[in-house]
Amino acid sequence: MFGKRGSTGEGRPIQEFRAIALETALPMHAAPDAARSPRDVAEIKRLAVVEQPSKPAAPQREKNESYYDTKSQVFTALIDTIDLSQLSKLDPDVAREEIRDIVNDIIAIKNFAMSIAEQEELLDDICNDVLGYGPLEPLLARDDIADIMVNGARKTYIEVLGKVQESSVRFRDNQQLLNICQRIVSQVGRRVDESSPICDARLPDGSRVNVIAPPLALDGPILTIRKFKKDKLTLDQLVRLGAISPPGAELLQIIGRVRCNIVISGGTGSGKTTLLNCLTNYIDRDERIITCEDSAELQLQQPHVVRLETRPANLEGEGEITMRDLVKNCLRMRPERIIVGEVRGPEVFDLLSAMNTGHDGSMGTIHANSPRECLSRMESMIAMGGFALPQRTVREIIVGSVDIIIQAARLRDGSRRITHVTEVVGMEGDVIITQDLMVYDIEGEDANGRLVGKHVSTGLSRPKFWDRARYYNEEHRLAQAIDAMEVQS
Ligand SMILES: Nc1ncnc2c1ncn2[C@@H]1O[C@H](COP(=O)(O)OP(=O)(O)O)[C@@H](O)[C@H]1O
Ligand SMILES: [Mg+2]
Repeated sequence: MFGKRGSTGEGRPIQEFRAIALETALPMHAAPDAARSPRDVAEIKRLAVVEQPSKPAAPQREKNESYYDTKSQVFTALIDTIDLSQLSKLDPDVAREEIRDIVNDIIAIKNFAMSIAEQEELLDDICNDVLGYGPLEPLLARDDIADIMVNGARKTYIEVLGKVQESSVRFRDNQQLLNICQRIVSQVGRRVDESSPICDARLPDGSRVNVIAPPLALDGPILTIRKFKKDKLTLDQLVRLGAISPPGAELLQIIGRVRCNIVISGGTGSGKTTLLNCLTNYIDRDERIITCEDSAELQLQQPHVVRLETRPANLEGEGEITMRDLVKNCLRMRPERIIVGEVRGPEVFDLLSAMNTGHDGSMGTIHANSPRECLSRMESMIAMGGFALPQRTVREIIVGSVDIIIQAARLRDGSRRITHVTEVVGMEGDVIITQDLMVYDIEGEDANGRLVGKHVSTGLSRPKFWDRARYYNEEHRLAQAIDAMEVQS
């Protein structure tokens, strides 16, 4: 039964508590208290039971109850034997193996009747609780999930293929959930509790995390995770997904290459960052590009890229570096293009200045629901910065800076589409004039409730950036792309 003990290997730090583990698993002796801090034990005890369904989930209930009962017994035995803080210092794979050995021993000693499959499941659950993010772990491991939204211990929603659905994941109680939130944010040196109930953080894999805890959140801690996708969608894939037509994609490639100043507009999760990432693929390899982001998501392929990231204030409220600080600093770094992940405030002014002072081909994303709204958002963000400029001047700055607005949208059937490629043409009186090069025309709905539509041109044959395209020797490609588009009827 203890045959595996030898597999631990000599001289590993884990050895000590392995020895203790096996002693106490033969349930007589208690582990020396010095081996672990009481806080760790308290925490891990709280983590012990997970995923108990809130409603009696009909036929499975009985099995579940005994499963959770067994699990909590094994868990208690486990935490009585190991030192959590030591465990966390180990490589996760090694730690997992150690836990596996101990849990198998405990099951054998305590004579729990379990199938191999049940035993494996139990082991996974326990490892997830001890080493990772508990019930969240299986969701984090899935690549098809874009967002995880935990609304207190009892409700977890996920977004899969553009659709939000409830998942079966449950936390034992809000305390367990808060502990997991705590574990996540502590990795970036932050804390979430009643005195600082709002916190942004990031998982080691780059996923973005937001936590808002009681008393601000009324029904327990709310955890939102935007999962980081290692493999960003490419423009080809967007075409295959129907987000844009083939000639539309060609148009975007040209726009990216010939150094138009681009603003990508769209709602949350509409695909702005994805699109921005796609466009950067068509930047020439010899350009010096500087990216500014709140949390690094872009994956530029060019060799000459400088990546910058903002910094939130620390616990004492000091040391914040805003997007504005970064963009301003960028201008002193001899960039050829500046790319701002998400423009939310007064930094828009610095980006626009960059755009019309020789950093052609700069790009950014803005949260807005139409190209028109995007323009007025820019105006109000400039006002937010306290620049007391007349409205007309502000509009002139925008017109002088932005060439193209690309609108991304998540439609009501969950599909994501590029709905507009719009040029900012000029001013007529006090009004900014725009023209659509391409729009997505919604024609109706099919039997399954999916929206049916197509990407069309508005019949315009010479975009304003024609001369620019010619300068980069792309005018034939541009003409072909426009010719290939169906014209709006
Ligand atoms: N055209 C698309 N079709 C399907 N999924 C998409 C599409 N564009 C983006 N996504 C996915 O949607 C999620 C949100 O995209 P993201 O670009 O981060 O949105 P935003 O920056 O607007 O918040 C990501 O998981 C991304 O892979
Ligand atoms: Mg984004």
